[in-house]
Parts: sequence; structure tokens; C-alpha cells
Amino acid sequence: MPTHDVVIVGSGLAGMRAALEVCQGASVAIVSKVHPVRSHSGAAQGGIAAALGNMPPERTAKIQARIENGAVLPDEELNEDSILLHWFDICKGGDYLVDQDAAQMTAENAPTLIYQYERWGAAFSRLPNGKIAQRPFGGHQAPRACYAADRTGHALLHCLWEQVMKRSDQVTVYSEWIVLDLIIRDNICRGLVVWDLNTGRLETVHTKAVIFATGGYGRAFSITTNAFANTGDGIAIAYRNGVPLMDMEFVQFHPTGLYRLGILLSEGARGEGAYLINGEGERFMHRYAPTLLEKGPRDIVARAEMMEIMEGRGGGPKKDYIYLDLRHLPAELVRTRLPQISDLVTKFVGIDWSKELIPIQPAAHYSMGGIPTTLQGEVILDAQETLVKGLYAAGECSCVSVHGANRLGVNSLLEATVTGWAAGRAALAHSQQAELAPLPADATASAEAEVKGILENEGTESVADLRKTLQEAMTEKCGVFRDADHLKQCLETVKDLQHRFHNVHIRDKGQVFNTALQEAIELGHMLDFAETIVEGALARQESRGAHARLEYFDLKTAAGVRDDENWLKHTLAYRDGDGVRLDYKPVRIFKFKPIARKY
Ligand code: FUM
Repeated sequence: MPTHDVVIVGSGLAGMRAALEVCQGASVAIVSKVHPVRSHSGAAQGGIAAALGNMPPERTAKIQARIENGAVLPDEELNEDSILLHWFDICKGGDYLVDQDAAQMTAENAPTLIYQYERWGAAFSRLPNGKIAQRPFGGHQAPRACYAADRTGHALLHCLWEQVMKRSDQVTVYSEWIVLDLIIRDNICRGLVVWDLNTGRLETVHTKAVIFATGGYGRAFSITTNAFANTGDGIAIAYRNGVPLMDMEFVQFHPTGLYRLGILLSEGARGEGAYLINGEGERFMHRYAPTLLEKGPRDIVARAEMMEIMEGRGGGPKKDYIYLDLRHLPAELVRTRLPQISDLVTKFVGIDWSKELIPIQPAAHYSMGGIPTTLQGEVILDAQETLVKGLYAAGECSCVSVHGANRLGVNSLLEATVTGWAAGRAALAHSQQAELAPLPADATASAEAEVKGILENEGTESVADLRKTLQEAMTEKCGVFRDADHLKQCLETVKDLQHRFHNVHIRDKGQVFNTALQEAIELGHMLDFAETIVEGALARQESRGAHARLEYFDLKTAAGVRDDENWLKHTLAYRDGDGVRLDYKPVRIFKFKPIARKY
């Protein structure tokens, strides 16, 4: 039986960054259902945020001229970005559901952790003076996105993988091992039950601390930017083990998913000056974010696109999409800063970006909610912040809550890095003073029953059919706009699918690389946590950030009704028998008072 001081589940930025902390003083393993360089962090395109204040030469020259003319004092404009400004932007961007200490920790640690990537050799794009290049991104008041063309996640993922490889005597990696269960008894996390996809064997992993860094769950929706692996496994397993899920109703829809395919076309394109155009050939963002236009925050831009479509101004025969317009951008800029997305549109839809408009639509992209944690990544059980000893979470599967009701672009690679780093340090400290708690005799019972139940089921339901029904219901009824009627229908569908799942049949009964079994297990996970998204959305009677309830939204003015008096609180969703029980927890606000969110 593998035994390690700390075991990390997930090998994206959060998981690997955590491993690099833990290995400094304890034995550590990474368990991942994909090879680490295939982790979904690699799909992040546009950048990673940090208030470095690096400016392109034209901007510096302009400021210099203003200083020379006596228009501004030297320090006044040269420090046009700051940690305080980044912190504020996160809180405002998150519609004030952000725990402000979490946002502070994120903004404060960003520069150091970015420079560490740089020292490790991350291939950031550069300004002519050699500094890390930074571009504008939605809702950030300064150009703050450090980028590696439009392959930033890929560059950082490989950078961390190199560091892990360099420490391969200290970090064990179990690739294509799928976690089925946590072993928690008496509120102490003692290990994991893992299924080796290559052999079909169930393994028990004994440890003093587990860090879940299992990423998001966009695959619960039909139109998504997410990889096939993003089925929210860690979130579902924590939930099944009594951990509540926090703020699950806040799902981010990225404004520029390729039409019908969902493939991400980076917000970096708009950061570099691309336009959004409706079916009438009009740039429409002036109606929704008059100051920032296309560089507004994602929730506002995604809603703007949907409103254009709902009002009959979409593009195409069904008027059901919007266009991304890159045609006016210089070819050299696109070649050097947006090479991936220009290639993607050619390869997937045969479009020449320099001559044609690109059809896009909002696509499920990111989960603001997840496993609730302290700033150190310790998993909490309730509003009183009772801890599960030895259990940590980091990155997208966790909810600390730095993004509140809406994440700003390029804060996700940052959050993965910061929370991975913090959870790694905390798990290391814990493992250095904790004893290995004994494993119970029935440690694998529940996982064995799950696998056996699926393999031996001779029912009539197909995984693909159930998954498609779930994904379509979630996109159509729990999407950018929601209302009580559609949410109730969606809940009914989810409950019905949970019931039908008991009758699911897979044809492959083998042990070796049984991906049919994997998909069934993943579907079970999605059906469990989907219910918390819908229940949370149904209960929350207001519009805030990415949660836009039509009953609390004025379509004429495009303004949501945020109800701070009753709803400025986090949702905690607990598994309760066959259903969900909701509780609430206050938001930590001590620096920025909630104000109206205008851009
Ligand atoms: O649009 C993008 O490049 C995505 C970035 C992010 O989600 O942070």
C-alpha cells in the first residue's frame, strides 16, 4: 500500500505548486487521472494577473512626456498599478461576495510568485526593455495580465512540471490513477481509495494529509471551454463525505467560446483590442459597459451577448450567436500575441480571422464555488469553520473565496498558484507534527461497492444519454440567465437522472483501461454536485455576479437587483439523504464597502 506524508490529487498548477512546497520537508505524491502536462491548467490562454506595473514603451513615453510637462508628479502615474488596486478590482469584480482577506492574500503574493515562475524559466512574452509584458483584461483597471502569447497556462504548467521532474526523487507521480473516495473517520483524513486505470486495481493510499486540487466541472454543461477530464470529481467526493459545497450557484460563462464547440478564444483577444459585434454588424457593448466596453468583466459581457441574442440581434440563420472581430488587428500582433486562437479558428471552423468574423457564444468556463477552505487551504465543515484535520483543497475545486460571485479573467492561474502554494505549506507543517492515523477496516467498502455496482449493473440506461440530458438541461435552464421555473425543471431533470443512474449499463466489463467505467463514475459525480448548483441558484433570490435571476433583473437597463440586506452571504450546500440542505455563512468584508457595480 503506498504511504506518503502528503498526497495531492490533481496535477494542474495548484497541485504541482503545492507539491513543490511539500517536498521541501516531507514525502509527497501526486495522484492524477491524466498525465500532469495534460492537466486543464494548460488550456488557460490569456495570462496570469499580478500588479507588476510593467508598461509598454508607448505608455511609458506618454507618462514621461506628462511628467516633463509638469502635468503629473513622477510617482503619481508611474505607479499606475498597485496591490491595493488589484485587491479592489477582485472585490468589485466578484460583486462583493469575495472574502476580502482571501483577495488580499492573492493580490499581495502575486508579484513574488510570478517572479518565481520567471526564475524557473517560464517563457513569458516580454516588453522591449526585457520586463514581463502585461496586457489589459476585463475588469482590471491596469494592464495586469502577464502572458506567454495566448498559451500562458501551457507555459506555466510545463514550467512547474520541469521543477517537479527536477525533484523526481522527492515527488512520486501516479498518473492515470482515479480517486474514488476519501478515508475520513472521526473528522481526520487518513487516506484515499484510488483506482489504477491501467490495471483496474483498487489501491488504498495511506497519508497524513490530502490536498484536493482536482479542478473544475465545466463538463456538466453542454457548451463549455473545459476539457473532458473536468468532471468535478474532487468536489463530488468531498460532498459525499460530508463536506459542504460553497457558492456553487456561481458558474462563470466565458463570453467567447467558439459557437457550438465551446472552444476557448481568449479574452486576451479583447485585451488586445478585438471587438464584439452583433448580427446587425454593430459593436454593442456601449449599452452594457459604457466605459470598459469589450473589456468589461465576464459576467457583464456574457449577459450582454445573451441580451443581444434574446432581443433578436444575434448572428447566423438562427440569430443565436455573436461575433468576435479580429479583422482590424495588425497581423504581427496576432502572430505574436494570439497565435493559438487564430490557429484554432482556422482549424476548427475554417475561418480566416483577418477577413471574417468569428461566431462565438458564452460557454461554461469556471466554477467560483467549490470546497470551502481557510486561507491556508484547510477544508472547513460549517459556518463555524470546523476543520477536517488533514484535508486541504486548492485551485478551482476550492472556494476560499477569492472570486466571490464572479472571477476576473487571469485571476485563475493566479489563484491556482497562490492557493496551491499556501495549501502546500500548511499540509507540510501539518504532516511534520501529525501521526499517521490508522486506517479503518472498511476503508475501501464504499468505493468497491460503487465500482461493482456499475460493472455488474445489467440495466438499460446509457452513460452517454444521461450525460447529454444533464449537460443540455444545465446549459438551457441553469445558464447565463436563470429563473425559478426553469431551475425547478432543471432540478427535476437532475433528480430523474440520479434515479436513472441506478439502472446504468456499461458494456466493457474489463479491468484494463476501462474508460466506460471511468465515464460512468464521472457521471455519478456530476449528477451529485449539479444538484447543489441548481438548489443554490433556486434559493438565491437576487442577481449577483454570474448568478442572474430574470425575476431580479431589469432587461431594459441590463441591471441586476443585488440584495445585500438578505443575500450578502455565502451558500453552504450539504448532502442530506437524497437531497441538499442549504446553510449560509457571512462574507468577510473589512476594506471595501459594497457599492454599485458599474463599468
Ligand atoms: O480568456 C482567457 O484567456 C481565459 C483566462 C482565464 O480564465 O483566466
